[in-house]
Amino acid sequence: MEIREASADDVMRLLSLADASPQAAHWGAGKYLERITAASGLVILAVEGDEIAGFVVARITAPECEIENLAVMPRLQRRGYGRALVRSVIGAARQAACEAIWLEVRESNQAARRLYAACGFSPIVRRIRYYSEPVEDAILLRRTL
Ligand SMILES: CC(C)(COP(=O)(O)OP(=O)(O)OC[C@H]1O[C@@H](n2cnc3c(N)ncnc32)[C@H](O)[C@@H]1OP(=O)(O)O)[C@@H](O)C(=O)NCCC(=O)NCCS
Repeated sequence: MEIREASADDVMRLLSLADASPQAAHWGAGKYLERITAASGLVILAVEGDEIAGFVVARITAPECEIENLAVMPRLQRRGYGRALVRSVIGAARQAACEAIWLEVRESNQAARRLYAACGFSPIVRRIRYYSEPVEDAILLRRTL
């Protein structure tokens, strides 16, 4: 597995991966491109051969970092890609002198909640009816660094 930062050339493949992941945030190409090019943006890929197995998008605005999107190709899940991607954000946030990382997750998204718990994130607050289609509460998770 190779972990590397994304470039503009990766955007179309990021869109297909997000399309294959109903629980991922669904963004247009422009938003990925903005995160790839902005100084505060961080888009990291887990690559296996020629294939993008997963990606994570974060914004680093020290002293805080927010994980905004994360997805692993369904047929490649449970092989450690998600954990490696979250760990890479933790490393980058530490290097940027952040004090904490936070994110929102659907209450029912047990796979993501367990992954984040395994990476040291704790629930902080519930955001009632935060998501639409379907309507659902968000759980705000935070990890101090
Ligand atoms: C959440 C997601 C990124 C996890 O990626 P992954 O590569 O499968 O995760 P890993 O293989 O690194 O798993 C690490 C740990 O997370 C937990 N975990 C991951 N998937 C799980 C599942 N389906 N059920 C229960 N626990 C799970 C386990 O503790 C796992 O450790 P283990 O395999 O040693 O038991 C993946 O399921 C996904 O892309 N989901 C759809 C998009 C999404 O939900 N994004 C998050 C939005 S906030």
